[in-house]
This record gives sequence, C-alpha cells and structure tokens, in this order.
Amino acid sequence: QQFFYRPLPLAGKKALVSAGPTHEAIDPVRFIGNHSSGKMGYAIASALQSLGASVTLVSGPTHLPTPQKVSRHDVTSAQEMLAACSMYFDVSDIIVMSAAVADYTPLKVASQKIKKKDGNLEIALKKTTDILTTLGKKKTANQTLVGFALETENELQNAQDKLKRKNLDYIVLNSMQDEGAGFAGDTNKITVIDSKGQIQHFELKSKQKVADDIASIIAAHQGAINS
Ligand code: CTP
Ligand code: CA
Repeated sequence: QQFFYRPLPLAGKKALVSAGPTHEAIDPVRFIGNHSSGKMGYAIASALQSLGASVTLVSGPTHLPTPQKVSRHDVTSAQEMLAACSMYFDVSDIIVMSAAVADYTPLKVASQKIKKKDGNLEIALKKTTDILTTLGKKKTANQTLVGFALETENELQNAQDKLKRKNLDYIVLNSMQDEGAGFAGDTNKITVIDSKGQIQHFELKSKQKVADDIASIIAAHQGAINS
C-alpha cells in the first residue's frame, strides 16, 4: 500500500507578521499607545503557520500567548519594530504588517518622571518612520506584501491610495463603522483590495476565520508568483 501526502501550500516559505500596538515613551513611567489588542496579527501568524509557513511574529506589547510553533520577537516602540521588521524582511517570502504602529512619537523622552505644574502641558511629537513604506521600496517580485488600513471615512478610496503609495500586493480594510469589527473584539469584517484594484468583501466572522481567509489569499498569491 502506498500513501501520498499533499504538501502544505506554504511549506518551505518564511513569513513575517507584525502585530499589536507600539508604545512611545514620554518619560520613564509613561507612554503614548493605542487600543490594538494584537488578536488579528496573532491569528494571521497562526493561520500562516497552519498552512506550513515558518512564521516570525514581531509583536508590540500585548497580553496574548504566542501561537504554537511561531517564533516571537517582542518590541516596544515604532523604531524597534522598524529595526526588527527590516532585519527579517529580506529572508521573508510573505510580510503581513498588521501592527498598529504609532504615527508620532515624543520628540524628546524626559529622563526623569515629568512633575505636574500649574497650567497645561504640551508634548512635542515627531513623525515615526512608516515601516510598510520602507519595506515596500525593497519588495522583490517573489514577495507577498500585505498591509492593513484603518479608516473612518472615504474607506475604499483611502485604502486603495495606501496600497499604491506603499507598493503593496494586498491591503486589508478594517471598517470601524461595522458593528463587531475592529480593534478590541474577537470578530472582524474586512475588505481586501489587490494591486489590480480588485475588491473582495467578506462577512463578519471570528478573527481566526478572517485570518484563514487572509492566509489563503496569500497562499494563492505565492502559488501564482512562484509557478
Ligand atoms: N504602518 C507602518 N508604519 C507606520 C504606520 C503605519 O508600517 N509608522 C502600517 C500599518 O501597520 C498598516 C498600514 O501602514 O499596515 C496602514 O496604517 P494606517 O494607520 O491605516 O495608515 P497610515 O499610513 O499610518 O495613515 P493614517 O494613519 O494617516 O491613515
Ligand atoms: Ca497611522
């Protein structure tokens, strides 16, 4: 008797997934952050692993357990996330940037705890480096680069602009207007746009099922560009 094994679609492929928020230090005890839970990125890391990829998860501060058989690299700030993602990018076939990276960071980090005084406090902020744009400039023909877009208005147009501007293969639009979708919960509703402008709408479902949808789109793209 003979057995035939169908290899997993992403066997031998390396994936880089970023997830969670970043924390930008103001002083030794305070930071600027956001409400990202990291759940969507962790679910994508797990889904890609299930399809056979060897996955590195670059994670901002979250309260989540590391998915099985995924290698995890923890970072805190946008700058640390840029350094980690840049380090893994060249060897990665698949890059999914699902982290909610801070757009601004304090111009200076106070070396001591800032003491309260009369009147208002102003903290000067400078722009962070856009990680996805940096990676998009280095992208080669056999890499699949996926970004996310969080929009509250003019969603499809803004997402499409981001896809072009950042040189992505796919952008996953998370609508904040949909009930049950977004940052903190366990469900999400997404729209995926590809570089040809094709738009795919998905139903509201669990983040793990959403991650499976994203992973199969990626597997199909890898299959197409490597055949
Ligand atoms: N992103 C990034 N580096 C940053 C900011 C964002 O890599 N410094 C990535 C996010 O991980 C996401 C994509 O860019 O995959 C889009 O993020 P989003 O916040 O929706 O868009 P921005 O380009 O930051 O523009 P804006 O916040 O003004 O809409
Ligand atoms: Ca942003």
